[in-house]
Amino acid sequence: MEKKERLRGKEILVTGGLGFIGSNLCIELVKQGARVTIVDNMLPRQGGNLFNIRPVEKKVKVNFSDIRNELSMNHLVKGKDYIFHLAGQVNHVDSMRNPVQDLDINCKGTLVLLEALKHNNRAACVVFAGTRGEYGSSVKLPVDEDHPTNPKGIYAVTNLTAEKMVLVYHDIYGIQGVCLRITNTYGPRHHMMHDEYGVFNWFIRKAIDNEEIPVFGDGRILRDFLYVDDLVECLLMVAVNSKAYGMVFNVGTGIPVSFIELAKKIARIAGTGKPEFTEFTTERKEVEPGDYYADISRIKKVVGWKPRTSLDEGIRKTIQFYRKYKKEYW
Ligand SMILES: NC(=O)c1ccc[n+]([C@@H]2O[C@H](COP(=O)([O-])OP(=O)(O)OC[C@H]3O[C@@H](n4cnc5c(N)ncnc54)[C@H](O)[C@@H]3O)[C@@H](O)[C@H]2O)c1
Repeated sequence: MEKKERLRGKEILVTGGLGFIGSNLCIELVKQGARVTIVDNMLPRQGGNLFNIRPVEKKVKVNFSDIRNELSMNHLVKGKDYIFHLAGQVNHVDSMRNPVQDLDINCKGTLVLLEALKHNNRAACVVFAGTRGEYGSSVKLPVDEDHPTNPKGIYAVTNLTAEKMVLVYHDIYGIQGVCLRITNTYGPRHHMMHDEYGVFNWFIRKAIDNEEIPVFGDGRILRDFLYVDDLVECLLMVAVNSKAYGMVFNVGTGIPVSFIELAKKIARIAGTGKPEFTEFTTERKEVEPGDYYADISRIKKVVGWKPRTSLDEGIRKTIQFYRKYKKEYW
């Protein structure tokens, strides 16, 4: 079957589908002929934005509900072939300010989803969008999936716990699950309200506004930045590949880039904005794990996925999107 045809007619549930990654995924799913239902509660200060799904708004069903609502989830999982679980509390700083909320959404929410599947639909496949934060500070680079997991903040702890829940339901109840540990992702449809998560897109906003691009510390911390279209392709590829079920995969580029290098590149491509060093805030310092870049050999080997978008091309596309749709995000 043609690669692009594999999801045609399939029933899909995307939790967090009004957010950054979820909406980009829904747009591609619709393009591929899938039948998409979104569940999202528009959690304040996060990426949920109805404008995100404008290109497909007439072709998807949107259920404004909370993944912690058992009645909703019992109903929503019925008849679905694939569940992309992207709803979550994603703000590292908020996870320290309000850890109980983070736990409730990321762990209880995942468990409610899994219980709903256990009772109503054990045939579905769940793809869980976890984070590279599950590793905490790197003891060896690049980081592979066997690297120790020592999360630095509660967001990373709850993601690691949710990942384990997906694997437990896979092993015990046969609910096929794939867990991804995703690196910093950027691109169109990310919120631009504040700088507490998604710093890459914050740099883009500052550049577009021709302001100082604030780089913490000496800017030499290394990260691995992935363009969202490449992540979407990865989500789709793991979902339809039974060899991936029951496994954990790093998702990134494997290419280290420092924050100062990134800020300079964004300013150069935008033609506006100027990198400026600034002190870490205490809240940021507390959850900063230091250098990270992924070893992606496992996913390349098992799934055949690899990223295709260069950093320059990704930055260009992102700037182009926000210059056009600035009023929907600022
Ligand atoms: N963006 C990244 O760089 C990145 C990296 C690693 C992992 N992830 C993971 O990917 C997933 C999606 O992240 P994103 O960047 O698209 O964030 P986002 O904030 O743009 O999207 C998350 C969506 O989840 C919704 N949501 C939150 N709590 C909910 C609840 N209780 N019930 C229903 N909906 C709820 C929000 O309203 C929002 O629309 C998250 O689980 C995040 O941890 C993201």
